[in-house]
Amino acid sequence: MRAAPGRTHLVPEPYGETPVWAYNDAVPGPEIRVRQGDRMRVVIDNGIDEETTVHWHGVRTPNAMDGVPHLTQVPIAPGESFTYEFDAVDAGTFWYHPHQNSTVQVGRGLYGPLIIEEAAPVRVDRELTWVLDDWRLTQAVAISDDFGNRHDLMHNGRVGNTVTINGRVPESIAVRAGERIRLRLINAANARIFGLDFSGLEPVVIALDGQPVTPHAPADGLVTLGPAMRMDMILDMTDRPGNRTTVVDRFYQGLEYRLVELAYAETALREGAPDWPVELPANPLAEPDLRDAIRHEVTFNGGMMGQMVMAEMGGSMGDGASGGMMGNMMNMMHGQGIWFINGKAATGHVMDPLLTLPRGRTCVLTMTNATAWHHPIHLHGHSFRVLSRNGQPTAHREWQDTVLMAPREKVEIAFVADNPGDWMFHCHILEHQAAGMMGVIRVSGKGERI
Ligand code: C2O
Ligand code: CU
Repeated sequence: MRAAPGRTHLVPEPYGETPVWAYNDAVPGPEIRVRQGDRMRVVIDNGIDEETTVHWHGVRTPNAMDGVPHLTQVPIAPGESFTYEFDAVDAGTFWYHPHQNSTVQVGRGLYGPLIIEEAAPVRVDRELTWVLDDWRLTQAVAISDDFGNRHDLMHNGRVGNTVTINGRVPESIAVRAGERIRLRLINAANARIFGLDFSGLEPVVIALDGQPVTPHAPADGLVTLGPAMRMDMILDMTDRPGNRTTVVDRFYQGLEYRLVELAYAETALREGAPDWPVELPANPLAEPDLRDAIRHEVTFNGGMMGQMVMAEMGGSMGDGASGGMMGNMMNMMHGQGIWFINGKAATGHVMDPLLTLPRGRTCVLTMTNATAWHHPIHLHGHSFRVLSRNGQPTAHREWQDTVLMAPREKVEIAFVADNPGDWMFHCHILEHQAAGMMGVIRVSGKGERI
């Protein structure tokens, strides 16, 4: 694939084309589809004017294939190329994007879907992939070049004004009554969180971040996806021929908008919904052993109104050690970064690990969001189980690689540190990441790299 400047019709006529950066001239880039167990080899040519890399988000690659500049590889210089090669160990819905100057490179259109198929997928009539993105466009439908402005960095990131599905502002999508669709949702936006209401339909979630989950209806009826998160769902088209179902994004209160319409053909595909099973086979992930776990606390703080939230939460975090850490963070917040993990903002390239974990051990992270904002927290090289939220066990102990934390929320995750190397651990609101909300987790130990 070649990353290069290009043009695309994000907004339909009468608007013109938008200059973007794209893989193989397309936004999103090509859908890469392989079978679980296949070996992937992707050559990336850098045709943009700055260094780049490609990160295979959610895929458990060896560390050297993870695409993090300076940490796992030398960045790909303009005009140069790099070959990524690794096994597709887990089936599921993944995506790829640069990990260099991400706010700009992803924000200008460099991203694409990576689908790793199960040997025996669930039966459906049709599969759809929706790569969601959110752009900040000018009146002339050019990408606004105010990347990394201080307001975006300190608040909820670069939330834009134009939402696309697969690189285009959608109008309607043709469906048939009785049809069963497997819908793969990928949030490729820098900062926008989606909360989709499929009004009248009853989506069944079958995978999160590529990993199978016990099939269930989305909590409170909304399909919530923070940046970088994915969701596979089974959608039965239960309305009548000729009708239209509107999909509404309700995440930001008062800013609800109609995302797309599902337009039913005049003739039904079948009467009623099929009764085919919807459960996906599990991926080969090591099960955390909680009795033998190494435990760490991770606190996120900073941002606008951060000091206020920290002061409020101070009481509940008031043992000696974290009390001292809070004081320390207060001081450091006057420094260079805006967002902090355990009091540190990552501002340079090479980073000392935040945590070092012995290979093969289970690690439990108790994470506290001591900020006034949502953060989708992503760990590279591993999937983790989400054990609890605010002390309440989760219903499905879901596997994720990116977990959305609400303001003031406490989330406990567990994983086996079985992939050696230095792994990024960061907020996937790209402006937060750029303003310090990132660290490195080192998995050390002898033995072969996977
Ligand atoms: Cu989508 Cu650090 O990655
Ligand atoms: Cu964040």
